[in-house]
Amino acid sequence: MKTIIEPFKIKSIEPIYFNTREEREKILEEAYYNLFLIHSRDVLIDLLTDSGTSAMSSGQWAGIMQGDESYAGSPSFYRFEEAVRTVTGLPLVIPTHQGRAAEKILFHLLGGKGKFILSNNLFDTTRANIEFSGAEGIDLVCEEGKHPSFPAPFKGNVDTAALQKFIEKTGAQNIPLVILTVTNNSGGGQPVSMRNIRETRAICDRHGIPLFIDACRFAENAYFIKLREEGYAGKPVPEIVKELFSYADGCTMSAKKDAFANIGGFLALRDEKLARQCRNLLIITEGFPTYGGLAGRDLEAIAIGLREVMDEHYLQYRIRSIEYLANKLIDAGVPIIRPAGGHAVYLDAKAFNTHIPPDQYPGQALACALYLAGGIRGVEIGSLMFGKYDAARRLVPAPMELVRLAIPRRVYTQSHIDYVAEVVIEVFRKKREIQGLEITEEAPMLRHFTAKLRPVSGNGPAALF
Ligand code: F0G
Repeated sequence: MKTIIEPFKIKSIEPIYFNTREEREKILEEAYYNLFLIHSRDVLIDLLTDSGTSAMSSGQWAGIMQGDESYAGSPSFYRFEEAVRTVTGLPLVIPTHQGRAAEKILFHLLGGKGKFILSNNLFDTTRANIEFSGAEGIDLVCEEGKHPSFPAPFKGNVDTAALQKFIEKTGAQNIPLVILTVTNNSGGGQPVSMRNIRETRAICDRHGIPLFIDACRFAENAYFIKLREEGYAGKPVPEIVKELFSYADGCTMSAKKDAFANIGGFLALRDEKLARQCRNLLIITEGFPTYGGLAGRDLEAIAIGLREVMDEHYLQYRIRSIEYLANKLIDAGVPIIRPAGGHAVYLDAKAFNTHIPPDQYPGQALACALYLAGGIRGVEIGSLMFGKYDAARRLVPAPMELVRLAIPRRVYTQSHIDYVAEVVIEVFRKKREIQGLEITEEAPMLRHFTAKLRPVSGNGPAALF
């Protein structure tokens, strides 16, 4: 088979800025070893997130010029609504300014004290919105999903036996919904199989619990189903996507991922009463239901992006380019979550930095080392993001210590990715030099965004790596 090429050519470019190791040391120290606090101009290859960072197509930019900015009843909204309905089959469409706004509305209405919301893996904002409502979020990912180096086709699946057991133990009346994250971002961007979604639906039906999809990366998940699940190889992606949503009562979506938009999101529902309640809240927090915190032009970009993302040449290139980076790292012995995820490669920092204990944040230390070594910005998904404290204020570590290298859609070329592999491999060869970190300041929720840290050695960044 020939090389799978980028299915686009470049019309407009954006410069990136180079800096030196010495400059990066100063930048990192001034950012308190928190990569969220670094200016993006000081980053060479930005793999912090695949969210809102996509390159839009000429079609989307043309759509932006069609944006109608009427407060109520904009044709841009009706085009957006039609696109969401066509793609998902869900009839009631509520725009929001991004995914977490949809989560906030949904969990405000359905969450609350004493309630449990079950999932394969909740992502950080989803978990935070659940907890903010007073409810508890429960991750029930399958056993394979908990072992980074163990390759399996659908490591994002929910453990259906555990789900069934949890519902029986807790009582369906305390479980307002089950939400499946496709692909499961905090567990390695791993897909959920159609079979697992169908089985989850059957369990939910038996107990009268609604099933929702956190649909951020629905197209990547659908393409994995096409590649890996029996019976789907010959099906067009839009059909797989339709089937996936057919099992759901609703979805939350961040259009900043699989809609190639720089901002936006939505809630899509079947239940009229719930939709009415959501719209009432939407008006207070986001805006009138035909724009929901977005400009008309954003609605146009999302409507077009939702269709573009299901193009199979694009999806083939997308999945292959992540795998390309993963394979280079695997060949060099770098521990990563296997197989490669749909939107990112996840370094297994626990196996990478065996000499750094969880309370010295091995993932964050590795993320900082990658920045120092090559100006690459990834994100820790480990005990800094998900760690908790027990009653004695000892850290309860997250189950996995990961560094995610998320690949923005249609932004970087193969040589950028080659460079990333070279830097990661260089750091891996000198991994013993990486030092742990400690937190000096943190917020009570979503602390990873703003926390301040310093090397435990008491020395500056030169000593960190
Ligand atoms: N759900 C999942 C699975 C996500 O990955 C995200 C965002 C959200 C919900 C929230 O969407 O950002 O539009 O409010 N994930 C980004 C990331 C931020 O870097 O993975 P949002």
